[in-house]
Amino acid sequence: MKFDKIIQTYESQPEIPKEIEESIINLFGVKNLQEIQDKVALSKRIANLFYSDGEADYKQNHKEYTLYYLPVNFYKVWQPLIDLLKYNLIHERFKILELGAGPGSCTFGMIEFFKMLAIDNLETNFVVSFCLVEKEKEFIDIFNTIFERYKVTFPTNLNIDITWLHNDLNNYIEIKDNKYDLIIESNMLNRNEKIFRKAINNLIDLCLNNLDKHSSIIFIEPADESVVNYLKAIKQKLKKLSFNSFSPCCCDADYCKQFASAKNYIGKSRIIKELKDLEEFKTVKLYHYFEYVVLRNDGLKKYKFFKNKILLNDIDDYIGQDISFKAFILSSSNKESKISLKICDGSFSERKDIWFEIPKKMIMSLRYNPIDINRGEFIEVKRAKIVSKNRIFCELHSQIKVMR
Ligand SMILES: C[S@@+](CC[C@H](N)C(=O)[O-])C[C@H]1O[C@@H](n2cnc3c(N)ncnc32)[C@H](O)[C@@H]1O
Repeated sequence: MKFDKIIQTYESQPEIPKEIEESIINLFGVKNLQEIQDKVALSKRIANLFYSDGEADYKQNHKEYTLYYLPVNFYKVWQPLIDLLKYNLIHERFKILELGAGPGSCTFGMIEFFKMLAIDNLETNFVVSFCLVEKEKEFIDIFNTIFERYKVTFPTNLNIDITWLHNDLNNYIEIKDNKYDLIIESNMLNRNEKIFRKAINNLIDLCLNNLDKHSSIIFIEPADESVVNYLKAIKQKLKKLSFNSFSPCCCDADYCKQFASAKNYIGKSRIIKELKDLEEFKTVKLYHYFEYVVLRNDGLKKYKFFKNKILLNDIDDYIGQDISFKAFILSSSNKESKISLKICDGSFSERKDIWFEIPKKMIMSLRYNPIDINRGEFIEVKRAKIVSKNRIFCELHSQIKVMR
């Protein structure tokens, strides 16, 4: 299956299909957001979705959630899907079970992903089936409205089948005779959603009973350490039940305390642009940070694991010395004079922020441009210098190899 185009598209920070954004704006009975009468009330409703008492309250605010969070969340799922695609783990017949689908922020992102794949592989027929679990009827209605408008954009070799389960994860949900290639949740596994032990146990049962052999689980959550604790606890539970981390990193540490973030630029969304033009939404940020994990039930890992001679956990014992190491990139930052890569080799006994820094003036002499290095990638570095307990510096004679 060809997939160069989809990766190029993602890297170019694509727009959201115009039919989807038009349809969302029309939910408010207007053609553009400038026409909305009470913009202050709109901004309060969005701001209060999660912060009134720390828990999500969608009462009467389903449209408002969709307006802001659908564009924000739309492309996040592409990153884990691309991880799988690069390893030929996405197929033309694909069955997906999504928990807490809401208005379809992540679902539409997945459909757009398969749409691009279908356009790139016109000789292949894609049949993608979704089973969507959601407790709020209003979100299901909103999804259906958007879907009607959006589906006219599908190429003829893409067949999308949608089944809704209007149900609450706090109830045991039995899905008979269904084996899924992917079980996914996006922004549901957190305290905002009052997801407690019962729902989590039900979710784990669904993963155990409804995942096909050689299949994946994807969890996507906001980049907020307190929220991500849920994700880590569930990941730990699933790892005890024979699932393994596939990406963005796949270290064998039983309980990884590292926290890292992926990020997407959301400024190309028409809705985000229109919101930013309104006085009430001036502070809307254009980058959105999130955390994700891909688990597998067949032992597959994105990279082979390794053990460094000098563990990154121990570098304070070697300050001033040269080091050669392999590491996962947890996040990267591009500052004026240097690129900093937050790295992990799976050896940390507690949370540690260790940075590998590359001065920008050295970039020309490197074979690989580190500006393009992303979360979840893997690097091999030879002869860098440990300059402090949390910094390793790229020297003139250092070598960097990025595994892709
Ligand atoms: C923050 S929204 C996320 C929606 C969408 N997945 C996204 O990424 O934007 C969380 C969704 O999970 C749903 N949800 C929360 N708890 C649930 C439960 N116990 N059973 C089913 N759905 C639930 C909510 O109704 C809501 O639609």
